[in-house]
Amino acid sequence: MDKTELMKDVLKVTGIAPIIAYAEPEQAVPAAKALVAGGLPVVEVLMRNEHAMGNLERIARDVPEIVAGAGTIITLDQAKAAIDHGAQFIIMPGIGRQVVEYCIDKKIPVILDGDPGHDDAIAWVLARASRELGILAVTSCCGNQTIEKTTYNALRVCTLIGLHAPVGKGCPHPLLNDVMNAPSVHGESGLDGPALPEPAFEASALSAPELMAKVLRESPEPVTIVATGPQTNVAALLLAHPELKCKIARISLMGGGIATGNWTPAAEFNILVDPEAARIVFTSGVPITMAGLDVTEKALIMPEDFERVRALGNPVSDIVAQWLEFFYKFHRSIGYAGAPMHDPCAVMALIHPEIFTIRPMYVQIETEGEYCRGTTVGDLLGFSGHAPNADVLMDVDRGRFADLLVEAIKFYGEAEA
Ligand code: RIB
Ligand code: CA
Repeated sequence: MDKTELMKDVLKVTGIAPIIAYAEPEQAVPAAKALVAGGLPVVEVLMRNEHAMGNLERIARDVPEIVAGAGTIITLDQAKAAIDHGAQFIIMPGIGRQVVEYCIDKKIPVILDGDPGHDDAIAWVLARASRELGILAVTSCCGNQTIEKTTYNALRVCTLIGLHAPVGKGCPHPLLNDVMNAPSVHGESGLDGPALPEPAFEASALSAPELMAKVLRESPEPVTIVATGPQTNVAALLLAHPELKCKIARISLMGGGIATGNWTPAAEFNILVDPEAARIVFTSGVPITMAGLDVTEKALIMPEDFERVRALGNPVSDIVAQWLEFFYKFHRSIGYAGAPMHDPCAVMALIHPEIFTIRPMYVQIETEGEYCRGTTVGDLLGFSGHAPNADVLMDVDRGRFADLLVEAIKFYGEAEA
């Protein structure tokens, strides 16, 4: 494999853009320039070694896009430990290949929090099939249906997709709001449509926030939370365990919309159900990827795509095709050309950010107002003077999105699924 392509693979999977330092100084700078020219982001380089120090100084001098520093990583085990803690560094030829391979096999640790819900379920199908993600836990939240129903659905979906991760039952109602469900969209069960297997295991004895806290405490590295329902559990975690905020790498959430709402003219369902929770999340300082309606209503899976999924002919694909058809039924009645993949956007943004248009933005959550409670107010023009607090997805390559989703579902027909 071409070295630059290999490095891009490492970057995509781990967020780490390694630089392979050469014993011959004259090669270090061209290699570093190739990385920058190849569109890899600024890389902070941490390394101390008699070979690399000279290269480090040359790179710092001749490749200004790269911030060069000095740290100490010499052995393979030290390199692996450094990667587990998010280090980015030069890789010496002696251990380069093994470390790069370790990077490629490395997964982004995630917790899936949602209110299945057809699009939550499809998001979890995608996450489980993605080699880039390591799912540490699943937590249910109250949204599309009651917490009892979404927890039962979470256990059934995990059983269906062979996801043997602990499942934590979430908060039974929003922080302040009354319970608000969406049977018109997802049915009385919250996941109407195809028959699903009964749960093969019970929910954890720990509540969702406490299971999240346990996973964060025990993880050697920060964990990404994929929140595809009202953010009640995430807010409860942040309130009860502020000391663990540093162990949350990012919150990739489906919620809000800069341009519009879908449950009121101003507010999207997930935010409207629990605006106070969303405000706690958006003011937490934790990095946020926001998959709002601006992008999710463009991430349409069309009826012809349903047939591509069904044609895969594996134990999961037929159920996903039926979920798509059920979800589309409601949306077709209000004029959609396809099924909007709201929640899968929050997963796809982690594994294929390149297919999205992403805009850093300062986003505030309206918790008052007769007409605007639950609105995500995006500072598009920078009036507020505040630094961005969210990476907002604004557009997507729909065709690529659909292709990647169909491709991912093939996973369930392969031996190791
Ligand atoms: O507005 C769309 C969101 O509300 C999705 O997460 C869907 O599952 C529902 O929860
Ligand atoms: Ca959802």
